[in-house]
Amino acid sequence: MEESDKIVEEALAEAEKATTSRGLYEAKMRFLGRTGKVTALLKSMRELAAEQRPAFGKRVNELREKLEEMFAAHEEKVKRQELERKLQSEQVDVTEPGRHTAKGALHPITRTKNELIDIFAGMGFEVFEGPEIESEYYNFTALNTPADHPARDMQDTFYITDEFLLRTQTSAGQIRLMEQKKPPIKMLSPGRVFRSDDDATHSPMFHQMEGLVVDKGITLCDLKGMLDEFARTMFSSSSRTRLRPSYFPFTEPSVEVDVSCSACGGKGCSLCKGTGWIEVLGAGMVNRHVLENCGVDPDVYTGFAFGMGIERIAMLKYGINHIRLFTENDVRFLEQFKD
Ligand code: PHE
Repeated sequence: MEESDKIVEEALAEAEKATTSRGLYEAKMRFLGRTGKVTALLKSMRELAAEQRPAFGKRVNELREKLEEMFAAHEEKVKRQELERKLQSEQVDVTEPGRHTAKGALHPITRTKNELIDIFAGMGFEVFEGPEIESEYYNFTALNTPADHPARDMQDTFYITDEFLLRTQTSAGQIRLMEQKKPPIKMLSPGRVFRSDDDATHSPMFHQMEGLVVDKGITLCDLKGMLDEFARTMFSSSSRTRLRPSYFPFTEPSVEVDVSCSACGGKGCSLCKGTGWIEVLGAGMVNRHVLENCGVDPDVYTGFAFGMGIERIAMLKYGINHIRLFTENDVRFLEQFKD
């Protein structure tokens, strides 16, 4: 009797201490499990005299029932508490402001490059990318600029060895492409170029977009028409272009191309230094020696080529006044090019 009262008290205390269903189950097993205290009592019945067993057995069974009821009641209570705790901890505050991730933007050079590719792809140009480390053959010699040519000085160059250099112009791509592909050719070649140059509008690394068209009967008029179309799409529908005589070893005749100033419409302002025109690229008819160097017969085929600085185009289009802004990666600058 005494033993059984003690067990009830103990079990009650343990059940009350349990705050989780797992803890409660473990407590229950300490009494009613296979090695539990109540089970041990039942087993001890064997040690009793035969006439004492029925009464003892009855009492232990009553004790077991009582404890089972008591644990069942606690189980319900603990489960309810558990649910409450879960609901509490998983509560979502729907009024809390969302966490936001800053949206990135394409770099203005990438953006301008993509825009240029879009315009020229629409005219049927294919993109061809040449290597950034070039041999002096592709960068100069094949472009009609032999070792002793004064034009090599105009492009103060980063040499890696006597033979290899960081390309100074994407024009090297003209040669690489014409060696691989026979006319008709309509190629666009974007990429990084390197020169020992550094001021507000020049940087030792910048980007160029090269264009090359070779076919039968191509004339300077085709170049002019294509440039007008380019200027209208890139700058404004009223943009015009003009050609000024110039010199490049790999084109003959060579021209500098100006676009009417989009800030003043050609009247003259501070952007165009009062002239109404802004120089945007170099171009010309492919020199016959260059065609010959690539195995293209200059008596059958003619072509034009042009090369523009992507930084320059972006500076004009977006009114950027220093080339270094492109490489400083100041987020306040870059953020302005979000769509
Ligand atoms: N490669 C020349 C430069 O870098 C530009 C150019 C390209 C001129 C193609 C004529 C034809 O200045």
